[in-house]
Amino acid sequence: MTDYSSNPTLRESATYGRDVIHEIQRAAETGIYDIRGWGAKRKVPHFDDLLFLGASMSRYPLEGYREKCDTRVTLGTRHAKKPLVIETPVTIAGMSFGALSAQAKEALGRGASEVGTSTTTGDGGMTAEERGESTKLVYQYLPSRYGMNPDDLRKADAIEVVLGQGAKPGGGGMLLGQKISDRVAQMRTLPKGIDQRSACRHPDWTGPDDLAIKIAELREITDWQVPIYIKVGATRTYYDVKLAVKAGADVVVLDGMQGGTAATQEVFIEHVGIPTMAAIPQAAQALQEMGVHREVQLIVSGGIRNGADVAKAIALGADAVAIGTAALIALGDNHPRYDEEYRQLGSAAGFYDDFQEGKCPAGISTQDPELSQRLDPVAAGKRLANYLRVLTLEAQTLARACGKSHLHHLEPEDLVALNVEAAAMARVPLAGTDWVPGQRF
Ligand SMILES: Cc1cc2nc3c(=O)[nH]c(=O)nc-3n(C[C@H](O)[C@H](O)[C@H](O)COP(=O)(O)O)c2cc1C
Repeated sequence: MTDYSSNPTLRESATYGRDVIHEIQRAAETGIYDIRGWGAKRKVPHFDDLLFLGASMSRYPLEGYREKCDTRVTLGTRHAKKPLVIETPVTIAGMSFGALSAQAKEALGRGASEVGTSTTTGDGGMTAEERGESTKLVYQYLPSRYGMNPDDLRKADAIEVVLGQGAKPGGGGMLLGQKISDRVAQMRTLPKGIDQRSACRHPDWTGPDDLAIKIAELREITDWQVPIYIKVGATRTYYDVKLAVKAGADVVVLDGMQGGTAATQEVFIEHVGIPTMAAIPQAAQALQEMGVHREVQLIVSGGIRNGADVAKAIALGADAVAIGTAALIALGDNHPRYDEEYRQLGSAAGFYDDFQEGKCPAGISTQDPELSQRLDPVAAGKRLANYLRVLTLEAQTLARACGKSHLHHLEPEDLVALNVEAAAMARVPLAGTDWVPGQRF
């Protein structure tokens, strides 16, 4: 590449940066929009912009080795005869068989089960391996109905009606032809090797009243045994949560704009939805106003990476969190020894930037039989379980430092923000002040 650094008259444009120029050239050459996996890559206000106020004089911290800090959460206490009890408030988000290999789905189940939490199916249905290895499995009921099977529905420990995802609220996902193997095609009753778009809305309802009827149907089919979740992408969250509760949800799953996806249009991922942190206070407010906060549980996802994120999401009002991207990173051996193979995909080892390609050298986001064999579901499951344990221990550490004997005792009052944007979105004071921008006192 030519080195222009010695030419002082060349000046980079803040509006037309290198990446923007490259994208215009790419679009002009190909005439097609860019499709990719992962979530938003731009910087948006996030949990890193919040800090905990650990206890000192005015608060009393708990001792790590002797005093208990509970992490157990019960989901679905509103209507279900058998609510789902998870030992840590970190669950595995719905990720489709098709996007992920059968080995990866099995590994997610193994890892989640080892620590007593749940995992979730996805577009494309339930695999036998996944059901077999998951002690707590949530079944997604999606707009596409790909892989939807009433027998599998009845085998689930909870049902998640997906209305939207944070990466693409208002839109549907994609599964490129290279991932449509015989098994994926057969489960989805669609042709092999042809790109598939998932629908952006359910075929049989137009609004919340229809949704209430659909939920009633699902309850009848499952004899009121299991919790029914509603998953929404974060946009008009305050209203969406109120409508979900009105429609009868036991649990609301709220996915912020940083949330991952297997593949969708880049323009969607970066330009639709609101940050996870901004959505949680809206959801908590809606639940509180309806008098159902912690009775209708709130699961939050989109950019959860460590125990601090878990604790902050809970302090803002979540009951639990779900992880997608981080779980795949924990599973996988995105190792330098595969670097050459990653580079052939336009990525590099360590970037996890190839979900859409279907040629994942680590055997996670592929249907290629040889590549998927590279992932050992037992070893990968152990890695995920380790990671889930660390998230839990980290969240407990922070909660104890704030004097809390259950993660759910964390509250917005334990947090401050580092900048004005985060303070306004999270509705907590700017650090060192009592100023919450936008709040009337
Ligand atoms: C590979 C992959 C596949 C996904 N498939 C689905 C799906 O089938 N259904 C769904 O509701 N969400 C799907 N998602 C989104 C996740 O359920 C979740 O909302 C998101 O990953 C959370 O954000 P995070 O990745 O930052 O943790 C997928 C995400 C990834 C990364």
